[in-house]
Amino acid sequence: MESGERGGAPRPDAGMIDVGGLDEFPERSVRVFSIEGREVGVMRWRGDEVFAFHNRCPHQGGPLCRGFFGPKLVSRGPGVPGRLEADDDLPIVVCPWHKWEFEAATGRGVWDPNYRVRTYPIKIEEGRVLLGMRVPRRDKPRDADAPAEAKAPAEAGA
Ligand code: FES
Repeated sequence: MESGERGGAPRPDAGMIDVGGLDEFPERSVRVFSIEGREVGVMRWRGDEVFAFHNRCPHQGGPLCRGFFGPKLVSRGPGVPGRLEADDDLPIVVCPWHKWEFEAATGRGVWDPNYRVRTYPIKIEEGRVLLGMRVPRRDKPRDADAPAEAKAPAEAGA
């Protein structure tokens, strides 16, 4: 039996929450979900690249998902001062309050990797976006072999 299946019926992995179909996430945008009292931003960058991170800036708690998203600006080697290029392989989240930047994939601060936004596991299976968050103990079924039921997440601001 493959992971994520029980009795032949496909289901998300235990602890993975189905937050919607991939087609419900426009490219280069973020949707915010409120799950178990925590706001989580789900960003679709391009194609099937998705990232999930806490909607709270580690600087002073700014609403990260209300910020800006774009490719990281990088310098392309010595000898060409001032030449910057956009690296589409490195999407960046910019906090709206003081413009600190974080890598969407790792949550690391661009200027100081000691600052980090919490990220969450996320994947796409059969066109569905599955977010990995620990299911609180009170929501776990008594039967340890039974699959954990993921509550339908509420989209923040919806
Ligand atoms: S609160 Fe995000 S940069 Fe200051």
